[in-house]
Amino acid sequence: MKVFSGSSNKPLAEEIAKELGIKVSPIEIHVFPDKERRIRIENNVVDQDSVVIQSTNTPADTNYMELFFIIDGLKRSGAKTVTAVVPYLGYQRQDHVFRDGEAVSLEVVIRHIESQGVNNFITFDLHSIKIPELFHIPVFHLSALPLFSEIIKKQIPSLSSQKDSEILVSPDMGGIRRIKILSEMLGNIPYAYVCKERNLETGEVSADQITGLPEGKVKKAFIVDDMISSGKTIIAAANLLKKNGVEDIEVFVTHAIFSNQAPRLLEDSIVKKVYVTDAVYIPEEKKFPKLKIISVAKIIVDQLKKI
Ligand code: R5P
Repeated sequence: MKVFSGSSNKPLAEEIAKELGIKVSPIEIHVFPDKERRIRIENNVVDQDSVVIQSTNTPADTNYMELFFIIDGLKRSGAKTVTAVVPYLGYQRQDHVFRDGEAVSLEVVIRHIESQGVNNFITFDLHSIKIPELFHIPVFHLSALPLFSEIIKKQIPSLSSQKDSEILVSPDMGGIRRIKILSEMLGNIPYAYVCKERNLETGEVSADQITGLPEGKVKKAFIVDDMISSGKTIIAAANLLKKNGVEDIEVFVTHAIFSNQAPRLLEDSIVKKVYVTDAVYIPEEKKFPKLKIISVAKIIVDQLKKI
């Protein structure tokens, strides 16, 4: 097996290769003055299983084009199979038509990937569990929830005698399924969810109702979500918890997109810690003291070994 990496998340690709006991195979990625890219596979891949690692977060379009070109280079160079590992799948929030006239951007991307003859697709904590149904190739939808569960478990002194003092919280109704699964992993600890509204034109978030919060009993809340972009969803949920008397709050999110001022908003918020994964590469300037990064490399390697 040969592992290749686009530019978006080289540290994760290196971790994956290390776990597999190999090195990331070289690719020439030349950026022209006008920012167009030329990709060249440098090693022989004839009749070999190849894996390309590329998250398609910001700049999503550039990262997608790189992914497409690497896949094309591998196919033209005779690779036996191509497995695309896209830990963060860009455009996943545009997976259906919300308002008349909108494009289904995610479907456009998926159709293209399929047309390139990709054999397997690996991704992480998708926004909606229906997204794999849009593919016509095998999709392995992995999750960081087992990693989160291990960390939360250590913070709950005795799961069996837990008396509603710790709770999982979904910051919107779309995440209820996610916290139900996590609750099961944690011996069915209670969970609550926030009724969030987002203005589709301005992106502003409002949240003034939380369902399932045992009154006056909760000491600690774990907010769990798939991604943080602007940070507004998490901040709204944390502020609502504070209003309801819960001040010890930690956040567990798979994809740290961290747009605009999100790192500063989170650092300045009531939230005590923000756990994210390395599914999206976080540059130094976006790191902040409350941030903890957990690696998904081993989960990806376990899946690659099964394919
Ligand atoms: C949306 O439903 C997702 O699950 C996230 O809650 C959302 O995308 C986070 O975005 P932001 O950080 O901009 O509020």
